[in-house]
Amino acid sequence: MTEAYRITVEPLGTEIECRADQPILDACLRAGIWLPHACTHGTCGTCKAEVLDGEVDFGAASSFALMDFERDEGKALLCVATPRSDVTIDGDVEVEEGITMHPVSDFTGTVVELSDIAEETRRLILDLDHDIAFNPGQYVSIQVPGSGQTRTYSMANTPAEPGRLELHIRRTPGGLASDGWIFKNLAAGDQVALSGPYGRFFFHASRPEPMIMVAGGTGLAPIKSIVRHVLAESGQHVTLYVGARTVRHLYDEEFFRELQGRHPDRFVYRPCLSEQEADGYASGMVTDVLEAGLATAAGCVAYVCGPPPMVDATLKTLMRKRLFPRDIFREDFFDARDKAAGGVRSPLLKR
Ligand SMILES: Cc1cc2nc3c(=O)[nH]c(=O)nc-3n(C[C@H](O)[C@H](O)[C@H](O)COP(=O)(O)OP(=O)(O)OC[C@H]3O[C@@H](n4cnc5c(N)ncnc54)[C@H](O)[C@@H]3O)c2cc1C
Ligand code: FES
Repeated sequence: MTEAYRITVEPLGTEIECRADQPILDACLRAGIWLPHACTHGTCGTCKAEVLDGEVDFGAASSFALMDFERDEGKALLCVATPRSDVTIDGDVEVEEGITMHPVSDFTGTVVELSDIAEETRRLILDLDHDIAFNPGQYVSIQVPGSGQTRTYSMANTPAEPGRLELHIRRTPGGLASDGWIFKNLAAGDQVALSGPYGRFFFHASRPEPMIMVAGGTGLAPIKSIVRHVLAESGQHVTLYVGARTVRHLYDEEFFRELQGRHPDRFVYRPCLSEQEADGYASGMVTDVLEAGLATAAGCVAYVCGPPPMVDATLKTLMRKRLFPRDIFREDFFDARDKAAGGVRSPLLKR
């Protein structure tokens, strides 16, 4: 059996157990201690914390997200750091009023559907062995068979559908999980090991302003969960901008057009094509469309998700349109290449 150590989380003073091969963040989230995190793969730096006492293995932390001098100062990325002794950390424990954070646990999913929905994009539907409680916008971590590695995918289903996950997956050429497994030999009936829920990109009921939602590619997955949840459970107005290269790269268009038909006063769907001109679609990158068509974003709250360069560019545009960092929630779909090269997060933006 793997050795376990005691982790003391300050300023709570709470003590939990963590296996020697388990990331400290994982042990905390499973014990119901909510600590800030985003990518859970050592890329973004959101989970950086001070180790007040004890020894850790820094794990696969990107040298961009955790600089050498920060290691020397006793900082670690808790999503990849494992304990080598009993450890005390300064936890930056986050509690947001009105939000219930659900502990992480393990699940087995059975593939019930795997379908091509757009160019290089698949929908994966998994039936879970037991229900998952989560906040709309959060993600799960899937074990890639035979690799000892995990990959993260956002849930497009809502918390009202806790037993069946809907994931949208884009093929990354040369990618371990997408190219090497999900687009290759994964099939209906297969079992998938996963854990969740993770992430701090979720609907904030404490922000009742009109919502600007911006999705690039499969960044639509968590946005779809939030949009459906808000239209069913809350009274806000939602404008959804979806960026794609051509019509062939867009998916769930009929779904969102139908949703707009059902909620004409509350929901606007704006698909934007960057490499094709067509009736019924805005032309240009999402940022061009926002720049030209949105007089001001003042008084709104924004949720942005997709590839990191698109997220960063959108945030800059929204800030030019009078939003502040505190008004913008973001999810960057970092992958192994981003980790090796360093993310593109603007230091202005903490979320
Ligand atoms: C919070 C979060 C949520 C996400 N949700 C989704 C989602 O809902 N849908 C979705 O499609 N994606 C999502 N992603 C991205 C997803 O987790 C994977 O990163 C993506 O699917 C690629 O995984 P992969 O294993 O196929 O590719 P990887 O194996 O990660 O490889 C990615 C690319 O990097 C290259 N590469 C690998 N190693 C290196 C290296 N050392 N140096 C340089 N290049 C390298 C590979 O050749 C490939 O081109 C999310 C990411 C995050 C962080
Ligand atoms: S959550 Fe740990 S580095 Fe991103």
